[in-house]
Amino acid sequence: MNEISRKGFFAVLGGGLALMLMKPLRVFGAEPAKKKALAVPLSTLPELATPGGGTIVKLKDIPVMLIRVDEKTVVAYKPVCTHDKCAVQYNATDKNIVCPCHQAKFDLTGKPIMGPPTIPLESYKAIIRDDKVLVVM
Ligand code: FES
Repeated sequence: MNEISRKGFFAVLGGGLALMLMKPLRVFGAEPAKKKALAVPLSTLPELATPGGGTIVKLKDIPVMLIRVDEKTVVAYKPVCTHDKCAVQYNATDKNIVCPCHQAKFDLTGKPIMGPPTIPLESYKAIIRDDKVLVVM
């Protein structure tokens, strides 16, 4: 007959308890939020009616910069500078995104092209489909 020592019994019991406690942590822990495509009718975005236009809208209460690059392409960025978190603005004349805090510029891919930022703007996947802008966030 196998006998288990008192120390061994408590070691097994402790391990089992630890596993039981870890499982709920995994369930309620770092599950990433599911991303969804939000649809915005182009008719509500007159700034995007023609290529070269841009605007900032709120989606899920989050500001999103939308820029219509050409007939079929729209890009979407979080309008916050990656240097020191100032609000960035779209410059339709120069076709770039500027940060007034330290005179930085980003190109329409979100890449920094002038000034102190070294990190691209945070982007969202966006497309134009059926007269709507779909933004995944
Ligand atoms: S905060 Fe934008 S360049 Fe410094």
